[in-house]
Amino acid sequence: MNNRGEQVIGELFRRINTLIADYDLTYDEYQVAQQWLIDVGQAGEWPLALALFEHAVEQQAHKDRAGSQGTILGPFYLPDSPVLDLPYELPHRPGEKGDKLLMTGRVLSADGTPLDGAVLDVWQADADGLYSGFSDLPAGLLRGKLTTDTQGRFALRTIVPGAFTIPHEGPVGRLLAACGWHPWRPGHIHMIVSADEHEPLITQLYMDSSDYLDDDVASAVKNSLIVHPHRHGGQLAFDYEFRLAPLRAAVPAG
Ligand SMILES: [Fe+2]
Repeated sequence: MNNRGEQVIGELFRRINTLIADYDLTYDEYQVAQQWLIDVGQAGEWPLALALFEHAVEQQAHKDRAGSQGTILGPFYLPDSPVLDLPYELPHRPGEKGDKLLMTGRVLSADGTPLDGAVLDVWQADADGLYSGFSDLPAGLLRGKLTTDTQGRFALRTIVPGAFTIPHEGPVGRLLAACGWHPWRPGHIHMIVSADEHEPLITQLYMDSSDYLDDDVASAVKNSLIVHPHRHGGQLAFDYEFRLAPLRAAVPAG
C-alpha cells in the first residue's frame, strides 16, 4: 500500500479506537457491529452501504471545478442507453404514469460558449420510483442519449420521476431504521453531460415539488440542482443550463 493509503487507513483505525473509548462501547455492542458488517457482506450490500458516502467524495473531488455543480452517479447508471432520434423523448410505455415533463436547456462551456454536439446521457425512475435494468421495467425504459444543436440547445420530453426508496429490506435498511433515518430519495433525473475537450458533468436535477429534498438519504441534493417546473397546458416544463469545465491542460513533465 502506498504512503497515502497507509496514512488514511492508519487514521481510520485511530478514529475507530477513539470512538470505542469515547462511547465506552460494550462487548455486546461490539458484537452487534461485527455481525452487521458480516451481514452486509453476505447480503451483497457493500455497494449500497458505501453509496451513502459517495456524496462526500464527489464534493471533495469537484470542489475547485469550474462550471455547474454536479452530484453523485448513484447505483442505477447503465452505459448502453438507447441513442434517441429527434424530437427527443425518453422511451416509455403507452400511457406512462406521471405528469408529462418537457426539459429544455443549453450546454455551454464554463465561459458561456455554446457546445455544439454535447451529449446528454439521461436516466430516471418511473412515477413509482423504479429504474429499468434494476426492476421488471422493459430494458431501456426512461433512458436515452441526445445531442445538442449548434447553439448548444436541447429539448427532451419525459415524465416527472417519482420519489423512491433505496433497498431497505436488508442490513443497510436495518441500520437506517435503527438510527431513525428513512430510506427515501427525492424525485430526480440523472444525466452525464459530456463534450469534447471538457470534463464530463455527472449530475441529477431534483423536482422542487418532491418530498425529501431536505433529508435525502444519499445527501446528494444541492440548491443549484433543484428545478422549478411551470405548468404549460397539459405538461410541466423547465429550462436548465449546464456549464462544463474545460479539460485541464496537462502539466508539463519536469
Ligand atoms: Fe436515482
